[in-house]
Amino acid sequence: MKEKLLELFEQNRGTLISGSDIAKSLGVSRAAVNKAISGLRDSGYKFDATSRLGYVFSEKNDIISPSGIYKYLNGNKHKIVHLDEVNSTNTALKELAQNGAQEGTVVVTEMQTGGKGRRGKRFFSPRGCGVYFSLLLRPRLKAADSVFITVAASVAVRRAIKHLLHADTQIKWVNDVYFNNKKLCGILTEASMEIESGYLNYAVLGIGINIKPPENGYPEEFAFKTTNLSEISHPLPDDLKNKLIAEVLTQFDRLYETLEQKDYIEEYKEASCILGRKIEILAGPYAGPAVAEDIDSDANLIVRLPNGNTAALNSGDVSICL
Ligand code: BTN
Repeated sequence: MKEKLLELFEQNRGTLISGSDIAKSLGVSRAAVNKAISGLRDSGYKFDATSRLGYVFSEKNDIISPSGIYKYLNGNKHKIVHLDEVNSTNTALKELAQNGAQEGTVVVTEMQTGGKGRRGKRFFSPRGCGVYFSLLLRPRLKAADSVFITVAASVAVRRAIKHLLHADTQIKWVNDVYFNNKKLCGILTEASMEIESGYLNYAVLGIGINIKPPENGYPEEFAFKTTNLSEISHPLPDDLKNKLIAEVLTQFDRLYETLEQKDYIEEYKEASCILGRKIEILAGPYAGPAVAEDIDSDANLIVRLPNGNTAALNSGDVSICL
């Protein structure tokens, strides 16, 4: 009932609908409509100029919902599963994947209690401050090539932000989206592979984009290196969360169709914020200082080491020396 009502309101944002029209179109009583609307109010939805004449679903509502996302998507590739709160959308989606969920299934949430970052780090995911979602993929792809999912996703996020906010963001190899030297978005792809063939069974592509700062500020470990969309553009567009999720999915779907052609690598390289800069390689055989020199056609990072040799990194994490 809640989702049906939301769907009706999403299709009529900013316009007056009478209680009896709602009841008629959903095939329920007026009392049931009133109850469901107070449920929506309890969830934080706002109505403008509510009067005896009916309800106006406010243009300003910025809460994630499946119908809110479907409204901005073309086609029906995606099944959106909305959880008000979850440990990690990646973990929740992996469970659905094990149980046979279809490619294109998306888990979205308002907050994660155990948001995961790469290399065992946590991804700070407070309520209402960002979009946190995961997309299930079942590509015919060698596990060794799964980095291209992440690389394409970072380009998709960048394009989505450009489309919605007209702002240019940068990509920090491998998969963080940055603005003004601070992290705006993190991407974590987790995969299950078949050992014998080396092909993926499935991949879960998890994306977290910060939209606004938490009321009490960021915890110390994130404070100096985290940014959010409200620092890029002010005021932010109405209904941004649903729009942003839909736009990232749309942009990613386009790139995913021809993932192995790697048409996005040039853009990925042009958007890099580390080329030419001193970096610190954080793990692996080359851990230590280096200079980021190039990104090759396989998204490897070519670095100059202190001994003058070059090395190609195909995964890992680096920090920028400021
Ligand atoms: C990183 O910063 O190293 C990657 C962060 C990835 C965060 C996203 S939010 C949605 C999905 N669920 C998770 O637990 N992590 C990813």
